[in-house]
Amino acid sequence: MTITFTTEPAVPLPAEKRAALLEAPAFGEVFTDHMISIDWDRDRGWHDARLHPYGPLVLDPSAQVFHYGQEVFEGMKAYRRPDGTVVTFRPYANAARLNRSCARMAMPELPEETFVEALELLVTTDRDWVPDRPGHSLYLRPFMIATQHTIGFYGPSAAYRFMVIASPAASYFKAGAKPLTVWLSQDYTRAAPGGTGEAKCGGNYAGTLVAQAQAREKGCDQVVWLDSAERRWVDEMGTSNLFFVYGERLVTPELSGTLLAGVTRDSVLALAADLGYQAEEGRISMEQWRADAESGVLTEVFSCGTSSMVTPVGFVRSVDGDWTIGGGVPGPVTSRLREELSGIQAGSRPDPFGWVHKI
Ligand code: COI
Repeated sequence: MTITFTTEPAVPLPAEKRAALLEAPAFGEVFTDHMISIDWDRDRGWHDARLHPYGPLVLDPSAQVFHYGQEVFEGMKAYRRPDGTVVTFRPYANAARLNRSCARMAMPELPEETFVEALELLVTTDRDWVPDRPGHSLYLRPFMIATQHTIGFYGPSAAYRFMVIASPAASYFKAGAKPLTVWLSQDYTRAAPGGTGEAKCGGNYAGTLVAQAQAREKGCDQVVWLDSAERRWVDEMGTSNLFFVYGERLVTPELSGTLLAGVTRDSVLALAADLGYQAEEGRISMEQWRADAESGVLTEVFSCGTSSMVTPVGFVRSVDGDWTIGGGVPGPVTSRLREELSGIQAGSRPDPFGWVHKI
């Protein structure tokens, strides 16, 4: 399907104000001049695609998203390379994942081409907002909400809006690539078999805030989720996936249906194999995590996700005790994967997988 976008230009923020905001943007707090909206209803399908000034929405208070949480989102980034070109990373992988989330949440799928066109149009129009500092990027947030006016809960909404907004970003974690301290959540779980754990929907995040607050109280940066049946097997971290490094062997929790199929996770699996590591999916229990860290066979742990990239995990706290991984300092495999992946994105390394998408 090709869709035609109409354009309503914004009055751009003056260049000197934009430059000041791009100096050190806090994650997710400043937005570019424009946004994208596309509507869907049963009669017309996807229609009324538009690029328009960024600003508040006018929605009926009965819109289904406010009551029953029918919403999905994606997270991705645009990078400015030293030669001035702007690229994104694997946008079709995010388009496909959005549609898997839509299928789970009984929402209409958006053609992948339309998803990518929407990103391209927004990034091209607001190109001056793509930061040029190493490690900084323009974070893109595509999302879809249920807009039918009704508080009856008779079935999926009959109307939706897909939108894309963009926000200049520095590092997600304030400490940059310093090793994280994580809290192993044993009171709360994130997802159960047959639930929505694999979908990138807002409710999956809302339900974790109380555990995240508990993690902060314990002096930790993030929460780590265990499976909900046995409360034993590691699923994922608060906003990203996890990798366990045993020397030259990497293991990441398998996609059991309760954790997010991260695009960065998938990229790290492929990249690590290409670099000669043994990269596999498997199951890691919290007992094994602790025993292997204490005996030293587990040399590194890192988290990976779009916003946080590849970040070392150095310390674990739990009700059963605390432990340290690899002396609590960033390990060589974590640092290498972080450098290789950011090098592909920045254009300083070859892109053997064809992941980079020029805008
Ligand atoms: C991302 O990493 O892009 C996410 O969507 C996580 C979000 C909580 C910032």
